[in-house]
Amino acid sequence: MNNQRVYIFDTTLRDGEQVPGCKLNKEQKITIARKLDELGVDVIEAGFPVSSPGDFEAVQAIAKEVKNATVCGLTRAVKNDIEVAAQALKYAKKPRIHTGIGTSDSHIKYKFNASKDEIIERAVEAVSYAKTFVDDVEFYAEDAGRTDNEFLAKVCTEVVRAGATVLNIPDTTGYCLPEEYGAKIKYLSEHVVGIENAILSCHCHNDLGLATANAISGVVNGARQIECTINGIGERAGNTALEEVVMILRQHPGLHLDTNINSKLLNDISRLVSDTMGMIVQPNKAIVGANAFAHSSGIHQDGVIKNRATYEIINPEDVGVTESSIILTARSGRAALAYRAKNIGYELTKLQLDAVYLEFLKVADRKKEVVNDDIHRIIEHCRIGIAL
Ligand code: KIV
Ligand code: ZN
Repeated sequence: MNNQRVYIFDTTLRDGEQVPGCKLNKEQKITIARKLDELGVDVIEAGFPVSSPGDFEAVQAIAKEVKNATVCGLTRAVKNDIEVAAQALKYAKKPRIHTGIGTSDSHIKYKFNASKDEIIERAVEAVSYAKTFVDDVEFYAEDAGRTDNEFLAKVCTEVVRAGATVLNIPDTTGYCLPEEYGAKIKYLSEHVVGIENAILSCHCHNDLGLATANAISGVVNGARQIECTINGIGERAGNTALEEVVMILRQHPGLHLDTNINSKLLNDISRLVSDTMGMIVQPNKAIVGANAFAHSSGIHQDGVIKNRATYEIINPEDVGVTESSIILTARSGRAALAYRAKNIGYELTKLQLDAVYLEFLKVADRKKEVVNDDIHRIIEHCRIGIAL
């Protein structure tokens, strides 16, 4: 069975950049966009052009620069937003306008003070207007996660009829459970009239820590695009992390779903985004955290030294990390100590290792991590002891 393609829509420069303190200038955005293109993402959401002159210029510059990916600009279901986005995307090889409106009861009542029919009318108008500028129009039903499925299918049917090529189903508040989100996607794939002319897209937020699980549940149930960010950055608790969904699909070939991402570049782009935005990646972050391939307990270290696969499901080289690391702490065993000692030039006999290990534990109980300099000192110290 051949793998089916899942398109990766990266929104680091739009949803990701909405994070307080993460504002980027035009040059920084271009640098990241180039790297995203190299990484193999299918769509780069470059910004929200009507939001500021700076964002307009950045989207325009990225549209000129990007060679392979579709370049996308966000709009509300507002004519002026759409015109400005079309202008910003004018030079893109593959432009996409991403327009939409809130569809949940609370958005309809509190944000728009409108009726359901008025929401459908505005959605259709926005898509039809965007189609006068570009062929590729993505529609988002904001707060789809809390929108009743029957109404959602009705909105989607109408916007597909108006020419929407992609239907974005955002779990804007990160509320859904994976089963619920997957069932929503399945329902839409079975009830939206004309769905064969569009693809369903997952856009999940991480308020309950479920953004990645929900996106995966979405593609397992028929969606073919995932909207995500590098390092999972984004509003509040963030968005689905690009590196996570890519590696989940790769590590589970039985799902028969894959992306076009060159995973060997994941670690580099994670650092680039983290450094440029000043957003530290938590050390235990899956795939790209500093500890993602670090082993510190004796039992695990012994296993990894004998065979990496005992405690690692991903080869670190596949995501651009040169090797697994063995961190020496008070929980480390003799095997890890002998391994590190050998790496820095000491071949210890069993007797020597026993002596060095006792000294090592004294140092390790005082320090969080025992580094190479400590080991040199311990071994020198023990040699004197052994000689005496
Ligand atoms: O989370 C959301 O609903 C969004 C839309 C604007 C696409 O980011
Ligand atoms: Zn979002």
